[in-house]
Amino acid sequence: MTLRNQIIEKFHTRFKRMPRFLVRAPGRVNLIGEHTDYNDGFVMPMAIDRYVWIAMTPRLDTMVQAYSADFDQMAILDIEAIEPKEPGWAEYLKGVAWSLRVAGYSLCGWDGIIAGDIPINAGLSSSAALEMALMRAFSASSDLEWEPDVMARIGQRAENEWVGVRCGIMDQMISAGGKAGCALLIDCRSLETRRVPIPSNCSVVVLDTATRRGLVDSAYNERRAQCEKAAHIFGVRALRDVPLEAVAMQPDSLDDLIWRRARHVISENARTLAAADLMVKQDAGGLGKLLYSSHISLRDDFEVSSYELDSIVDCAMEQEGCYGARMTGAGFGGCAIAITKPGMESVFAVRVSECYENKTGNEPAIYICNASDGASLFML
Ligand code: GLA
Repeated sequence: MTLRNQIIEKFHTRFKRMPRFLVRAPGRVNLIGEHTDYNDGFVMPMAIDRYVWIAMTPRLDTMVQAYSADFDQMAILDIEAIEPKEPGWAEYLKGVAWSLRVAGYSLCGWDGIIAGDIPINAGLSSSAALEMALMRAFSASSDLEWEPDVMARIGQRAENEWVGVRCGIMDQMISAGGKAGCALLIDCRSLETRRVPIPSNCSVVVLDTATRRGLVDSAYNERRAQCEKAAHIFGVRALRDVPLEAVAMQPDSLDDLIWRRARHVISENARTLAAADLMVKQDAGGLGKLLYSSHISLRDDFEVSSYELDSIVDCAMEQEGCYGARMTGAGFGGCAIAITKPGMESVFAVRVSECYENKTGNEPAIYICNASDGASLFML
């Protein structure tokens, strides 16, 4: 049975009636533009066809009764009396309710069943998808207009200030506003977006190294601080404002480490804009080269790759029909992405698995992904 039908059935069993709405918000994979969002730069993620689903019915009061099938846990909450507790999925529910209220929305509650098929902690943004699905549920119960950029900012605030994870705006933006068949080029300063069709001669394959690293948060925060320091020394608001020509020469005032961090961000912004142009021209070869340069820059200058990520990228690059590959997401573990010739994905997946397992002893998970729509609401 599909996940969609399972949650409808679970809703019926638990609440003794049929749900009125179905909500669905996707995970994401970033094609290019890594560690650029918190530097006011450019990113180009696509929403993937793996989702958090909610079957729900609005209530007339301010109570939310939400059952997570993945965690086998019920959360009961009065929106007007939200208090933080120990971390867990229900903090996302409280966080988005809190953040929507702080943004001035008055909310009605709902009853719902939640389930998803985005691997958790793999770097495919299952938490942003959960946030956007919850916000879509509130938009249905409280009649809120769905403006992806507005909702993304509110979701990011929930994650930053309630859940306590410092993240940029990319994951929420793409889960809120993705478009089927397209990646979204996002200007993370203005939040302007441009749809960039995935070239018809490219398939997108996600390669999960099956490694998860602790300390990702502290390393992430450290990289953010280093970027802020670099921007300060360059005398600009954010590294986005440093022109590409600057990568040609290290200023005396920047030590080697800070310089390499800055060089990654400045060059990655340029690669991301160039990638969008190449996609429009259906230049898969050129796009693949940019992906691999991005990986080298993340590995050597930004230093957020890992032995496993490097290995899976190398394995991908060796295969016939692969245009390019790179680590994707925050790094240190999680997933890489490859683009291949359509029709070759399955052979590619088998060969990369073998090669990676031989090198590392880990069995990867490989997903062939299609670009899908952002958070959606369906009436039943
Ligand atoms: C994580 C964050 C994003 C972004 C990426 C790195 O996924 O949540 O905001 O910073 O890392 O590109």
